[in-house]
Amino acid sequence: MSTFKAPKGTYDLIPPQSATYLAVREAIAAPLRKSGYGYIETPGFENIELFARGVGESTDIVTKEMYAFETKGGDQLALRPEGTASVLRAALEANLHKGGNLPVKLWYSGSYYRYERPQKGRYRHFSQVGAEAIGAEDPALDAELIILAVDAYKSLGLSNFRLLLNSLGDAECRPAYRGALQDFLRGLDLDEDTRRRVDINPLRVLDDKREAVQRQLTGAPVLRDHLCEACKAYHEQVRELLTAAGVAFEDDEKLVRGLDYYTRTTFEFVHDGLGSQSAVGGGGRYDGLSEMIGGPALPSVGWALGVDRTVLALEAEGITLDTPAATAVYAVPLGEEARRELFGTVTELRRAGVATDFAYGGKGLKNAMKSANRSGARLAIVAGERDLAEGIVQLKDLVSGEQRAVARDAVVEEVRRALG
Ligand code: HAM
Repeated sequence: MSTFKAPKGTYDLIPPQSATYLAVREAIAAPLRKSGYGYIETPGFENIELFARGVGESTDIVTKEMYAFETKGGDQLALRPEGTASVLRAALEANLHKGGNLPVKLWYSGSYYRYERPQKGRYRHFSQVGAEAIGAEDPALDAELIILAVDAYKSLGLSNFRLLLNSLGDAECRPAYRGALQDFLRGLDLDEDTRRRVDINPLRVLDDKREAVQRQLTGAPVLRDHLCEACKAYHEQVRELLTAAGVAFEDDEKLVRGLDYYTRTTFEFVHDGLGSQSAVGGGGRYDGLSEMIGGPALPSVGWALGVDRTVLALEAEGITLDTPAATAVYAVPLGEEARRELFGTVTELRRAGVATDFAYGGKGLKNAMKSANRSGARLAIVAGERDLAEGIVQLKDLVSGEQRAVARDAVVEEVRRALG
């Protein structure tokens, strides 16, 4: 061990478990790639104002959880706590919305940073795969994204997840609801912090996890009763499209999400094997975000799925992903001369596309065969000077234990045949 440890709330991805993370990222991205989403990558930090305006001045993410810093040049930056604001900023900056081809559909994968109280499933550095469809108002687009997330989870073999669905209304109907909710909340017995929240962001109070608060919320006005006709019709269409696609959902009128940019459709995927950090993914429509960060009106929708929590969900369901072995063939030279020659064969196999590794460091046969077995390789190639002088190598099947001599200049072919 060194003097240093990974910072609090972070952890390292280490083989062999790291292969599962790669496979999860790949499984979430696969349905997006096949549905017209292009890959986008944005910086790990942005101007702090982007998140303050985009995610919301009064959210926990902005007030408590952001890694904010001033550069030597005096710029006020923050490590990105989420991806949506950055992706929209980048799309606007590159004028992607002016190509006459809306919606602009983008997907991304990367690290995000929130200064939260660490616990199982909640980290200060975590990983998301996300998707954003920018510049179209169409219930089918909301449904598409939700279906793609469901398909991604299913392709991983997950089944104990649920989809919670809500509509948060729009600029037309939400203000009236907000007022009605404030009137109700002001009549309750709440602490000072929560009362302040009632003034700034009353919908967040519905999300308060404390029992004493939840008890008082019975009878609070619900947004569903305040939705305008347009929002109601839109939501109904999203629900119908999901039902037609065989996607089960639960209407959850208390689902408010922790970011302020949402309008209309909002949703969250929760997994029942994860305890308190049960949200494995979430998203929704954000029709006003572009204007909030200085762009034109661009109604949009998206989601982000947490990679760390998806891996925990796999563990909770006892699912082991079939990740391909990193090594298919392991080469073991016997002696100095053989080492030089066999190394050439390793390079040849690799160039032919066969995942091959080599017994480095002058190991004896016994040790080298142990390494071969540990590597997960299906085959070992063993060769001493005499073999090589005769133009052969020994090809050993590490599963059956069978061994036979093959011509050295036919190794690639023989290995391919043996691997099937
Ligand atoms: P979010 O709900 O804040 O949404 O995060 C999405 C997912 O990221 C969560 O469901 C969770 O799985 C994972 N996540 C969040 N915080 C942590 C943490 N501290 N540790 C581990 N995992 C975490 C967003 O970020 C929105 N940008 C989603 C979106 C995209 N909405 C529209 N487009």
